[in-house]
Amino acid sequence: MKKIAVIGSINIDYFVESKIVPKFGETVTGENFFMAFGGKGANQAVSASRLGGDVTLFGSIGNDEQKEVLLHHFINEKVNTEHLNIVDGVSTGAAFIELHNSENRIIIVPGANQYTNISYIEKNIERLLEHDVFLFQMEIPLETIEFLIPILFKHRKIIVLDPAPAQHLAADILDKVSYLTPNEHEFALVLNEQENQESALKSYPNKLIITEGEKGVSFYNGTEIIKVPARQTKAVDTTGAGDTFTGAFTVGISEGKALEECIRFGTIAASIAVTKKGAQAGMPYKQEIESVLKEG
Ligand code: RIB
Repeated sequence: MKKIAVIGSINIDYFVESKIVPKFGETVTGENFFMAFGGKGANQAVSASRLGGDVTLFGSIGNDEQKEVLLHHFINEKVNTEHLNIVDGVSTGAAFIELHNSENRIIIVPGANQYTNISYIEKNIERLLEHDVFLFQMEIPLETIEFLIPILFKHRKIIVLDPAPAQHLAADILDKVSYLTPNEHEFALVLNEQENQESALKSYPNKLIITEGEKGVSFYNGTEIIKVPARQTKAVDTTGAGDTFTGAFTVGISEGKALEECIRFGTIAASIAVTKKGAQAGMPYKQEIESVLKEG
């Protein structure tokens, strides 16, 4: 099996559930508070590992009270963290998530994630190059991504980039990425184009994969636009649904599955993940996906 390296953020998520969205200057009473493991990098690493991927996570956490809890968590999830960057004097990344009727609003404070920088990558480059498939998101410094992708491309690695939170990407980086998985709100900003979805998909055959939540996932296969429908389930929290999709998709790629099959695998995984609260809590294991596939 191909080895997957996830290079990304690690957060603790602080959830507040409330029926009312407060306006500026207003105080409202919420219904529930809980903490959970999060960060797009960590979420995608856990998603991929639960589905059988051989996953190493490269990223940074603070040398703070969250450190041991996180390291323990990654051991339980069979995510290799031996090359993690433990940074003194800075806190582990945090995300403050308001949950209203299964939808969310998120503010992140990067903290240690900012130290997933070029010098950390340079220190770990030989270990990184031992992997075959590379998975990025954009909660770490953009310069890190722009530095590493050309090196990986030169080594003919498979590169999956989930451009979230969305930022514009230079054309030479886009060219070097194997698969790009923005959602329907992100793709225009990432590609820096005013194009509609159809023309964007046609510009990047078998590479641009646009996710649209419960509407499904689209890509262009060189001949026609293929729409893979989402599996409908009752969502209680969509936080991390995109991460579940991308982690699962990447496992499919690492196993050499066809693109459409990888997308289907990802959509089933995401449909299961949203049935529990917290980004990682509902992420499925392989058997759960297999039983859904058997049901047809
Ligand atoms: O994609 C969901 C994630 O975004 C959350 O877990 C939160 O940490 C933010 O990074």
